[in-house]
Amino acid sequence: MTRKTYYITTPIYYVNDKPHIGHAYTSLACDVLARFKRLDGYDVMFLTGTDEHGQKVEKAAEAAGVDPQAFCDKVSQSFRDLAGAMNFSNDDFIRTTEPRHVKSVQALWQKVAASGNIYLGHYEGWYAVRDEAFYQEDELQDGPNGQKLAPTGAPVEWVKEPSYFFKLSAWGEKLLKFYEENPGFILPASRRNEVISFVKGGLKDLSVSRTTFKWGIPVPGDEAHVMYVWFDALTNYITAAGYPDTGSDSYKKFWPADLHMVGKDILRFHAVYWPAFLMAADLAPPKRVFAHGWWTNEGQKISKSLGNVIDPLALIEEFGLEQTRYFLMREVPFGNDGDFRRAGIVSRINSELANGFGNLAQRTLSFCAKNTNAAVPTPGPLAEMDEALLAEADSLADRMRAALDDQAIHTALQYWFDLVDAANKYIDVAAPWTLRKTDPARMETVLWTLLEAIRQLAILAQAIMPNSAAKMLDQLGVSEAARSFAHLGEMGRLRAGTPLPTPQGVFPRHVEAAAKEGA
Ligand code: MSP
Repeated sequence: MTRKTYYITTPIYYVNDKPHIGHAYTSLACDVLARFKRLDGYDVMFLTGTDEHGQKVEKAAEAAGVDPQAFCDKVSQSFRDLAGAMNFSNDDFIRTTEPRHVKSVQALWQKVAASGNIYLGHYEGWYAVRDEAFYQEDELQDGPNGQKLAPTGAPVEWVKEPSYFFKLSAWGEKLLKFYEENPGFILPASRRNEVISFVKGGLKDLSVSRTTFKWGIPVPGDEAHVMYVWFDALTNYITAAGYPDTGSDSYKKFWPADLHMVGKDILRFHAVYWPAFLMAADLAPPKRVFAHGWWTNEGQKISKSLGNVIDPLALIEEFGLEQTRYFLMREVPFGNDGDFRRAGIVSRINSELANGFGNLAQRTLSFCAKNTNAAVPTPGPLAEMDEALLAEADSLADRMRAALDDQAIHTALQYWFDLVDAANKYIDVAAPWTLRKTDPARMETVLWTLLEAIRQLAILAQAIMPNSAAKMLDQLGVSEAARSFAHLGEMGRLRAGTPLPTPQGVFPRHVEAAAKEGA
């Protein structure tokens, strides 16, 4: 039987800046989905990397007084370091300055040119280096000192130069048909509608080369031009799958990608330009593009000039890696904008991890350590309340899977937390501490039921908090081999008598520094 495959990508990050919460967020969402799919038996390829060409990077290198490649090497490494620090499980890390990528982009260009979709002309218009994007006059706003600004707030400049164009105007109808035939191509639905109305508004041909700077991939046959950075960057997704070798095992296995995860700001590039380039080269478009929202910091837009950029490494340092991962995925309906509040992260950590899951496990395991010879207890006949908790636990994976297949990560976590909550209520009602004296056999059944719920919670939590979930599974005596989703529910029930190691707290409470000092 061939294994099911899943190919998921993050955007590749610009190297003009150091990693911040926005980058960490996009990649984290992909990591959670990738881990879930692996545990669910898929052969996963999870790709991330850095976007290293373009005027913006050229300028940043110049400002730093180093040559662009050396500049890229340094900043690209900081994105690899972020992946390490956040425990991302990416299978590949692509850089657009790598030879495999240059070869792939030039091959794609030639394919698109050969199909008659590229022509030489002149570009004259507004360009925002910060966004690496062209804008129409009517999209602009007036900024300070007569400066014109793009809708994103980025300053634009008038550029006039010879340029190759991609015949985007010829692809409008085909794109609309493609969106219609593939209703799940763009999610969330509100974003899909935005893209459709943009395309219905009429597409103009797209300038895809520049001559006024050098830091890019040369256009084959006309080296005075370097390729537009988005043509270069988007192609990374097929490079990593093995393009231009479309007969390679990896290409056949992984392309078309299952999911490109992007922020809402770069949806148009992924949902309009990218499928058009691919169709023009007679290649399959990806199966889905999901656009998530943006974080603000305590209600304010995050920006370098405001000095309120959130450094993910600082969050990990202060709140812990697993806690930071949980909070970022749990706090905001995935797809919506979200606001980062200290009070919010502290409350999630304390009420849901420490008092919620942590306390549930700690109470149950310490009770077993003392009262069931530090071994899995022996269940007797199940009462209705035991059956109900087990049924909720056994159906959790299916419900989480369905939510995650729509990238509703927050919904999946809500189901997960609902079970934590239900198990905590169950322990209060079943009161094993009372049964210890009155009905020890019943006490064992209750504890076994609780351990089973905790086992399912820990197996599923591996996608979100891999280290803490592993510690929890160690404490339940679940072997490494029994931690995939194939062992959920009845397939991997805890066996009475299995020794349980000494329980240790996995989710400490977060105490604010001020409170610590006052204590
Ligand atoms: N290089 C392009 C992508 C090319 S993909 C073929 C790029 N890079 S980026 O470094 O500017 O941004 C990458 C991601 O970070 C985007 O998905 C963007 O939405 C995300 N974020 C940047 N700031 C953000 C927030 N404040 N909040 C959430 N995500 C944000 O664009």
